Amino acid sequence: LNSARESLYIVSQFAANFFEDQLWNSADGKAIGLSYFKERGFREDIIKKFNLGYSPDVWDALTLEAVKNQHSEEFLEKTGLSIRNDKSKLYDRFRGRVMFPIHNFTGRVIGFGGRTLKTDKNVPKYVNSPDSDIYHKSNVLYGLFHAKKAIRDQDNCYLVEGYADVLAVHQAYIENVVASSGTSLTIEQIKLIARFTQNVTILYDGDAAGIKASLRGLDMILEEGLNVKVVSFPDGDDPDSYMHKVGAGAFKTYVEEQRQDFILYKANILLAEAGKDPIKKAGIIRDIVESIAKIPDNIKASVFIKECSHLLEIEERVLLTELNAIKVAKS
Ligand code: CTP
Ligand code: MN
Ligand code: MN
Ligand code: MN
Ligand code: MN
Repeated sequence: LNSARESLYIVSQFAANFFEDQLWNSADGKAIGLSYFKERGFREDIIKKFNLGYSPDVWDALTLEAVKNQHSEEFLEKTGLSIRNDKSKLYDRFRGRVMFPIHNFTGRVIGFGGRTLKTDKNVPKYVNSPDSDIYHKSNVLYGLFHAKKAIRDQDNCYLVEGYADVLAVHQAYIENVVASSGTSLTIEQIKLIARFTQNVTILYDGDAAGIKASLRGLDMILEEGLNVKVVSFPDGDDPDSYMHKVGAGAFKTYVEEQRQDFILYKANILLAEAGKDPIKKAGIIRDIVESIAKIPDNIKASVFIKECSHLLEIEERVLLTELNAIKVAKS
């Protein structure tokens, strides 16, 4: 039993309750926070399921309420919920934002993401809790607590970029979804997924950053020995915006039908960039074989080599030679 860590959990849960109560019961929370979620198309059951909240737009609403309820300044500061100013006075980290509590996979609140309601480009879109003794960003997947049963049942985990994407995918009745939110995907996060399934489907944003992150992510997932597929979205859309555009039913169909094997996904992206240039095409083939070389299981790797051979119209023998050369160079 570690009472300091326990105190961090307790004050985090207190804050989550405070923000949630503000959203549903305060004048500003309802008029600003709740209507924001509703305008974005989120249903009440989803808002409740994820315990979404609102942080009042004043300097110390949470800090005052917590201290009034016998929570110590030390733990408010250690969770990052409060920050000490240069006059040694505590103020709230999250002010005038809609709040996404982050749960660990046993369901305890360990941190928060807060989204601004302003469209001002100078204001950071999200403010997140800093790492603490109970929150290590790089080891956490947003939504895992609400997803883990479905991940096991479906034997697949959808991976998205952001908080809102997790909510939107749930709203489309797909519950096996988590987000790497706030960090680029880490090995620890992949290992966490691997406790529940060996199959990952990447659903990243359909912009240049999302495509780049998905190519990096799929290599990391392959290297951990998991199977990976990808669903791409139209440029400018993410799973959240796309779900609200087409509706829950059409979204589910899209995800199921557009799911691509990683080789096909990677080949399509790279081939579109290369055009007809044969030298560039050779580079692409090497790049794809590099991904296949990350697969620890040789039988799986050889199946993908065969697929790659058909797709890119290259003799399997040539690809195998290349694969072995990469493996020798790595060993
Ligand atoms: N993120 C962050 N800080 C930022 C921007 C993004 O921590 N300044 C994290 C958040 O977890 C966010 C995720 O990265 O959910 C993906 O970023 P982005 O695609 O920019 O945001 P969305 O999740 O699409 O946010 P929204 O739909 O609310 O605009
Ligand atoms: Mn850490
Ligand atoms: Mn993005
Ligand atoms: Mn996004
Ligand atoms: Mn979004």
